[in-house]
Amino acid sequence: MEFSDKQKEIRRLLKDRRAIMLAHNYQPAEIQDVADFVDDSLGLSITASQTDAEVIVFCGVHFMAETAAIICPDKTVLLPRLDVGCCLAESVTAAKLLARKAELPGVPVVTYVNSTAAVKAESDICCTSANAVRVVNSLTARQVLMIPDQNLALYTARHTSKDIEIIAWEGWCNVHDGLTVEEVEEWKAARPQALFVAHPECNPEVLDLADAVRSTSGMLKFVHESPVQEFIIGTEKGILHRMRRENPGKHFYSPSKRLICRPMKRITLDDVIAALTETRHRVTVPENIRVKALRAVERMLAVPRD
Ligand code: 13P
Ligand code: SF4
Repeated sequence: MEFSDKQKEIRRLLKDRRAIMLAHNYQPAEIQDVADFVDDSLGLSITASQTDAEVIVFCGVHFMAETAAIICPDKTVLLPRLDVGCCLAESVTAAKLLARKAELPGVPVVTYVNSTAAVKAESDICCTSANAVRVVNSLTARQVLMIPDQNLALYTARHTSKDIEIIAWEGWCNVHDGLTVEEVEEWKAARPQALFVAHPECNPEVLDLADAVRSTSGMLKFVHESPVQEFIIGTEKGILHRMRRENPGKHFYSPSKRLICRPMKRITLDDVIAALTETRHRVTVPENIRVKALRAVERMLAVPRD
């Protein structure tokens, strides 16, 4: 693939600064194409924990860069823009979590990585959409509080092999939760040969229609390995770029015009150039919070991958 002038400038700056560029699967195509790694939240966290680069330019939403800052305090983690929040992460604060914990004494808290460092710091273990079921299966408790995504909590409750009660937080992602059964059914009727692959942040009625439920990188693996040629994709549209690039000849459809995460789309090539040239915007976490949050993230990373 031929890089544009701005992309060439980014590659030059990355080399000069001994930096790597990480991008989430929902990022704009031109950002994904120039990044060193494009992955889901778990994959990006693992890459951040293993890199020997001095600078990490994180193209994703705020909690993702913050997770890298929790794991890599000695590295400079840069978020090219600050106006890239996640509505799901914003649905819980440390104060609200502490109040709920007081009502549930002794109940461990499983926290989706889509959360702030301050919330992770008050949690027992983190999880992502790729490992939520495995994380819950690794626990010995009979009851857990799972925050902040109620759809992921309900999905995990249905699929855990443990006899465990999962208490869900009332939070959701507006992008995924907004996908409706009617929209999916309409697409399934129009494309009966297509498989429907969904993210666990979708609501349970939509997940009931899915042929596979996966994290974003899990979806990429699924469509690549499947002999089927057509797929309806129940997650943010940005992922279709990688799906099409990696699977020429296969067809991918987005079932709703609303499957767009606006904050994920804000970062531009100019923002990345400015981030690398001016060392902005550095994401840091106060040490007392970072150490506590790291414990929850490390417990998650210790759960074996499939
Ligand atoms: P993944 O970890 O599956 O990439 O999901 C992150 C996310 O924000 C989904 O909306
Ligand atoms: Fe957050 Fe939803 Fe955007 Fe994912 S798609 S980053 S959960 S707002």
